[in-house]
Amino acid sequence: MDNKTVYLNGQYLPLNEAKISVMDRGFLFGDGIYEVIPSYSGNLFHFQEHMERLENSLSSIRIPNPHDRAQWLEILTPLLDKNLDQYIYLQITRGVSDKRDHAFPENVTPTVFAMCSNIVPLENLESGVKAISVDDSRWELCNVKATTLLANILLRQQAVEKGCAEAILVKDGYVTEGAASNIFAVIDGVLITPPQGCEILPGITRNVILELAEKNNIPHSEDIISLDALQTASEIWLTSSTREIVPVVQLDNETIANGKPGPIWQNMHQLFQAYKQSCHE
Ligand code: PDD
Repeated sequence: MDNKTVYLNGQYLPLNEAKISVMDRGFLFGDGIYEVIPSYSGNLFHFQEHMERLENSLSSIRIPNPHDRAQWLEILTPLLDKNLDQYIYLQITRGVSDKRDHAFPENVTPTVFAMCSNIVPLENLESGVKAISVDDSRWELCNVKATTLLANILLRQQAVEKGCAEAILVKDGYVTEGAASNIFAVIDGVLITPPQGCEILPGITRNVILELAEKNNIPHSEDIISLDALQTASEIWLTSSTREIVPVVQLDNETIANGKPGPIWQNMHQLFQAYKQSCHE
């Protein structure tokens, strides 16, 4: 096992020595939240936005935030390598209680775990990936970055078993997001992504793309997308902190446009790379 240094409850220690109690509510109930924060050359990308989302996730499930933003930065920085593109995985659970009871225990201390991994770029990025559409079987708090990801992993696994990179989730005929990504589509020349709300995670990558589209006069809107409309899209992208912007070239065995990543993706991919670079110059 990779024996890198991780952070657990105030200590830096080798990964194989980092242990939590079986009575941790994260283990027993999935009672916790997480963040995934990319780091380019040792600089955490859009750190404030990730902290804002972390604060919202914590307050949504009523876990007190154990640290302020400056303390979080101090905790996470020693895990980073300045020479690599990496991402921090940060998880906070409600903590350990001496009995298993669904209701919140009293006087519990949140468990904090953080580790850093290298970003491995998707091999077939330039040729695009395949996706399937599946019924969105998740709950009503998809805006909370909860560790309770059973639905998401089952949906992603369905995609993988069909040779696809992602499952695109559909609720009542409308596309919400991917199992672990947000979705964009180019329809009639306009770049569209579903609006924020409790049905999607407010992705940080999604926000950066909307800002880049605005700055660069790329026609765009936050609007609902029906599955029927998605099937007519000239481009479909999936976005996340670990995969950035991934073009989809096949949906449910049907080829999108000419089966190659489209011109708006090419442009946005370049803009995104340049923007990342500019953030740590
Ligand atoms: N997931 N929607 C879902 C359900 C996600 O899990 C993610 C990211 C996103 C994209 O958010 P962002 O751009 O902030 O990464 C949207 C992370 C990477 C994960 O679970 O590993």
